[in-house]
Amino acid sequence: MNDFARPASTAALSIAPEAAGDIAARDRLLDRAMASNWRRKASEKLRRGRLPAIALVARDASGTIVGTVRLWQVEAGGPSALLLGPLAVDPGARGLGTGSALMRAAIAAARDGGHGAIVLMGDPEYYGRFGFSADRTGALAMPGPFEPRRLLALELGEGALAGARGVLRPTGAKADAMRKAA
Ligand SMILES: CC(C)(COP(=O)(O)OP(=O)(O)OC[C@H]1O[C@@H](n2cnc3c(N)ncnc32)[C@H](O)[C@@H]1OP(=O)(O)O)[C@@H](O)C(=O)NCCC(=O)NCCS
Repeated sequence: MNDFARPASTAALSIAPEAAGDIAARDRLLDRAMASNWRRKASEKLRRGRLPAIALVARDASGTIVGTVRLWQVEAGGPSALLLGPLAVDPGARGLGTGSALMRAAIAAARDGGHGAIVLMGDPEYYGRFGFSADRTGALAMPGPFEPRRLLALELGEGALAGARGVLRPTGAKADAMRKAA
């Protein structure tokens, strides 16, 4: 993206639920934005074959998709939560507040949907500003290799992760079941 195509600020940004017609552009954005091994990460085991509970895209003033975030239903030893990820912003549109706007919208949507907590794998140096920490995740594990310092959570309700322990497992609707129903 050249400088003229960049949104000057998040004032030019709109965030909306992802539509079926956004999927191809979102996947191209993920390929540009993420390290090439992202599909092999432990988080992907919790997403593969499932439908997200929440999927949002950010568009710039021209309507181009410049950011994406999705959240997936998971469970660990009782309490349920949403797993957030991947969060990605087009490399040409970073540092303009798009990631923060997507995070705030995702947290608000999770709260509105009555979800108790959000967990994610990510850098505490970035996600700490949204209230995420490893304080409540010491007893949790991912279904694959992970760095415990990067397994973070935000409780949306007091004590929502109390008793959460063990390996996270996916509980969201299966994508193929929805396809068959359609
Ligand atoms: C992380 C990401 C989503 C941030 O998007 P963004 O639109 O640039 O975010 P914002 O404009 O809201 O915030 C930018 C700030 O976050 C900081 N930041 C970005 N990634 C960071 C990280 N991993 N650790 C610490 N700070 C980080 C930037 O330095 C910048 O700091 P500043 O506000 O002091 O200038 C984007 O860099 C991205 O898509 N990265 C690749 C994919 C990825 O790593 N996703 C997260 C894991 S799921």
